[in-house]
Amino acid sequence: MSESTVSVRDAEIGDAYVLALLSRRCFKKSPEWFVPLFLVRRWWRGVIEHDGCVVRVAIDHGGVFGYALSVYAFEDWDWVSSHGAHARWMKGAVTLLRPSFLKSYIAKRKKAKAQSRTNQKKRADSETVSDPVGRVSVREILGDRGVYWAIVAVSPEAQGRGVGKALLEGVTIFGQNAKADRICLHVDPRNKGAQGLYAKYGYALAGRDGNSLLMVKTLSDEPKPGL
Ligand SMILES: CC(C)(COP(=O)(O)OP(=O)(O)OC[C@H]1O[C@@H](n2cnc3c(N)ncnc32)[C@H](O)[C@@H]1OP(=O)(O)O)[C@@H](O)C(=O)NCCC(=O)NCCS
Repeated sequence: MSESTVSVRDAEIGDAYVLALLSRRCFKKSPEWFVPLFLVRRWWRGVIEHDGCVVRVAIDHGGVFGYALSVYAFEDWDWVSSHGAHARWMKGAVTLLRPSFLKSYIAKRKKAKAQSRTNQKKRADSETVSDPVGRVSVREILGDRGVYWAIVAVSPEAQGRGVGKALLEGVTIFGQNAKADRICLHVDPRNKGAQGLYAKYGYALAGRDGNSLLMVKTLSDEPKPGL
């Protein structure tokens, strides 16, 4: 991949299969991408066609190798994160059927229990000690005015060459054009790399939501693009 041949465009329905494969390669620890492939492809088709979602893909002569998925509002996020291949029961079934996911799930549960015990002990020791990463909900962070959320992924062999940054900047511009006052995203607590990248581009940790961390970027101080 040479940087001069890279461009970013809106995803088309025909990209759904490649996006499904790419998601599997980029998120090896996330069960939602490992339900049967035709369901993941159908999910992507639904997302590309959904009015509340915007999918931008990075392409070169070899095809699609990165994407950014953005949604306008909580209802859209809710639909994206619980519809089709992302339905909770499907993720649960994959977790039960695949030993690697089951192992990771059990480890996560153990860690969460240990953390909860530590927090209880801390609270008992001193009323003033609070969990540095408290629970928050997406609705709380997004507010009522339809702010904005996104995920970004770049194929492993193309990482570290500025594509993630370009996709992230596109997300910011889209958020500004949508008159959002902030961008919010989920990130896996184990994904320190992505957390570092987001922090570098102005995202701050807002709290925990389920098994994920929520990060938020305020847009009010950003210069408005001339697009
Ligand atoms: C996270 C991800 C999208 C970054 O894409 P990328 O193309 O490798 O990132 P870039 O090359 O554009 O890097 C942009 C900047 O972030 C920094 N960065 C990238 N990966 C980083 C990491 N793992 N740790 C710390 N900083 C990192 C780079 O140094 C670069 O800084 P610079 O602007 O000063 O040069 C990519 O690694 C990825 O797809 N990972 C798997 C999927 C994933 O975890 N997605 C995020 C969760 S939704």
